[in-house]
Amino acid sequence: MRLNRGVVQPWWRDAVVYEIYVRSFADSDGDGVGDLEGVRSHLDHLVDLGVDALWLTPFYPSPMHDHGYDVADYVDIEPVFGDLAAFDRLLSDAHERDLRVIVDLVPNHTSNEHPWFQAALAGGPERQQYVFRPGRDGGPPNNWTSVFGGPAWTLDKDSGEYYLHLFDATQPDLEWRSPAVHEKFRTILRTWLDRGVDGFRIDVAHALYKHPDLADEPAAPVGSMMAADRPAVWDQPEVVGVYEDWRRITDSYTGDRMMVGEVFLLDARKAARYVGPSRLQQAFNFSVAKADWGAQALREVVDRGLALFDPPTWVLSNHDLPRHTTRFGGGETGRRRAVAATALLLALPGSTYLYQGEELGLEDGDVPAEARQDPIALRSGLPGRDGCRTPMPWVAQDVGHGFTTGRPWLPFGADASERAVDVQRRDETAMLATYRQLLVARRTLRPHLGNAVTWLDPAPDVLALRREGGLVCVLNTSERPVEVPCSGDVLVATQAGACVGDGSLTVPPVSTVWLREDPTHA
Ligand code: NOJ
Repeated sequence: MRLNRGVVQPWWRDAVVYEIYVRSFADSDGDGVGDLEGVRSHLDHLVDLGVDALWLTPFYPSPMHDHGYDVADYVDIEPVFGDLAAFDRLLSDAHERDLRVIVDLVPNHTSNEHPWFQAALAGGPERQQYVFRPGRDGGPPNNWTSVFGGPAWTLDKDSGEYYLHLFDATQPDLEWRSPAVHEKFRTILRTWLDRGVDGFRIDVAHALYKHPDLADEPAAPVGSMMAADRPAVWDQPEVVGVYEDWRRITDSYTGDRMMVGEVFLLDARKAARYVGPSRLQQAFNFSVAKADWGAQALREVVDRGLALFDPPTWVLSNHDLPRHTTRFGGGETGRRRAVAATALLLALPGSTYLYQGEELGLEDGDVPAEARQDPIALRSGLPGRDGCRTPMPWVAQDVGHGFTTGRPWLPFGADASERAVDVQRRDETAMLATYRQLLVARRTLRPHLGNAVTWLDPAPDVLALRREGGLVCVLNTSERPVEVPCSGDVLVATQAGACVGDGSLTVPPVSTVWLREDPTHA
């Protein structure tokens, strides 16, 4: 619990959560793949940065066809990432530093190597826990496609039936109409809660149930879950019941345990329905991650996020999306825009999710076709998501950039030396320093701020808002400096040159300024 404008509220309502893509964060044993011990050795980076929590992508035993989102055992650790003792050390060191830990839960599908699926193939009762169907006209049971490309069905040659997989053929979907699946996941949830985790990020939380008719659907584009809402495939009415059940479990533990759903639905109103006092504590609001650069576009998604989600959540980048530096144009322009947009979101009420490396201003790496590993690239020939998963550069002057002493599983991005952590630590004007200033200011202001947001309309191409409690945030999307009537003290500016004088604030081009208003205006 913590205090906001005199009100006690759970920590997750306004937490800044840092996503760690474990494979690419830090490798402690030289095999080229990041691991839990690597994360533990860099916890101080997160403390210096000032985040409240970290989210670890899946670290469970897995054949790694989807880099851990194909789980072969939900309650153990993949040896490449460490073991349960390493997990416990990481959790305890994180808690000692006041960092909460969220783990990734993958309930829509297992790996085809999971013993449940192996038993299902052998004809055991576990077969009811997956979606097996006879074919139609010599082909799959319906026309559904996998998000990763190709059909969503694979033939089980021994039985002559097909099994459903909305992702890779090695990721068979579970049948959530089977009570045994519910019981198994309740146990999994309790196992991790007993171990002390603070929450769960729930993978494709909207996908668990499929329409019972399994009817054909209009063709769905490949390569992005956000490409289309799929009424027969996603967001069935029964799914929210799973989270009502899990909410009773998380609420039965002390310490404000939480769940955040990855509800990838184009219609944010539908995603917001997954959240509530008896449902998920949060769902990712992906609208900002899809928004174009520009004052109007950003204002619309912020307004929608504030109106629909309680609490609001904000996401600009993650391990499935192009980094926002790249999406906003790349290079110096992309970086200026990216940090300005981040500063806007950090000024808002709600919880913000950061993705490792964005504090360095990393761009997507250009991963050559022969080095690509993402199943999207392998199944569809599209570039896929490897570009945003290139390893973290900790040290500029080192072949493995302090990430590994071995050969990294993916090549580094071209900006690794220039943007490495050690270089930025020595530079007070670096992106890393700006992120730190934003997070320190946010923490300092937190007890004074309320949730009300008022838009000020100072000039075209400028977004300005006042947050209840005296924070004013001004984003200038234009290429010219602008003057905005305001008085107070500049707390943070994402570019040099911001200043206040004679009742007006100068905001440099493509930048955001946070100002602590005179208390008389607050
Ligand atoms: C969403 C995860 O974020 C993504 O990385 C994964 O490929 C799919 N779900 C399937 O689990």
